[in-house]
Amino acid sequence: MLGKNGQVGWELQRSLMVLGELIALDRNYEGALCGDLANAEALRKTIRLLKPDVIVNAAAYTAVDKAETEPERAYQVNSIACQLLAEEAASLGTLLVHYSTDYVFNGEGDKPWTESADTGPLNQYGVTKLAGEQAITASKCNHLIFRTSWVYGARGNNFAKTMLRLAGERESLSVVADQVGAPTGAELIADVTAQAIKAAVARPEYSGIYHLAASGETSWHGYAEYAFSIARELGLPLRVETVQPICSEEFPTPAARPKNSRLNTNKLQDAFSIYLPDWKVGVRRMLMEVLNK
Ligand SMILES: NC(=O)c1ccc[n+]([C@@H]2O[C@H](COP(=O)([O-])OP(=O)(O)OC[C@H]3O[C@@H](n4cnc5c(N)ncnc54)[C@H](OP(=O)(O)O)[C@@H]3O)[C@@H](O)[C@H]2O)c1
Repeated sequence: MLGKNGQVGWELQRSLMVLGELIALDRNYEGALCGDLANAEALRKTIRLLKPDVIVNAAAYTAVDKAETEPERAYQVNSIACQLLAEEAASLGTLLVHYSTDYVFNGEGDKPWTESADTGPLNQYGVTKLAGEQAITASKCNHLIFRTSWVYGARGNNFAKTMLRLAGERESLSVVADQVGAPTGAELIADVTAQAIKAAVARPEYSGIYHLAASGETSWHGYAEYAFSIARELGLPLRVETVQPICSEEFPTPAARPKNSRLNTNKLQDAFSIYLPDWKVGVRRMLMEVLNK
């Protein structure tokens, strides 16, 4: 598994352990092994040495705004490395599991995107993630690509934690209300990944792209309000009194974000008999864990 210290990578270390021997790498060398997606030679050598049954790639260039000014670095990690992983997986008969994003879509309309909907990324990060998907699909290796959205983990920083910190400091906050999607826990993504791998390993008929997001939908504003309601329920003092809904244009960022990030997850639920809980279930659980520390 690659990207062991990321939000999803961290949770995968727990969920994949039960499937067999797990080797989890980050970008640094561990003996002769190296999971640096920007070091093609080291990555290829590592895969050829290990000959894994499954490669799970949770590593990615995820700095969405920074990708606007360093698109080549983002492309190297999110696309060129995927092509390498896919080539190696194809020649070894290995299952390649990879993650992509709602940012491959242009965000128009208000219907949940299906896997076959036309793509049209609005920013460099989305362009490089889409190129990664296309490289994997073109290689014909056995693969699972999970497009997910608004990922959070209990470990490290996340949107809800940032909002709670700000709500403790300020009386008034403005939060974007015209981008709609589903906050999705890294824990859920990792659990679904393990379940899907069990079904798909050595079964190329499962190969393909799947949308993996929590059920329901909200805006960043709704997400923040929900986090505040949990915090109040747990007795955490908040200074914030007004949470102003604003539109994306009032909060300009270097990278444009899609307004409609809704993902239709029927294909995943049907193929692997998976139940995806409402986004509030995971956010509540994460906040209980974080706030009760
Ligand atoms: N976060 C979201 O909201 C979101 C939404 C939709 C889809 N996704 C996708 O979901 C997947 C997992 O995302 P995440 O939220 O877990 O991301 P994350 O927390 O940012 O973790 C990404 C990991 O990739 C590592 N990485 C970056 N460049 C690398 C390189 N050259 N070689 C090896 N490792 C490298 C990072 O290591 P360092 O810490 O050392 O940089 C980090 O540990 C990604 O494919 C992402 O595109 C994420």
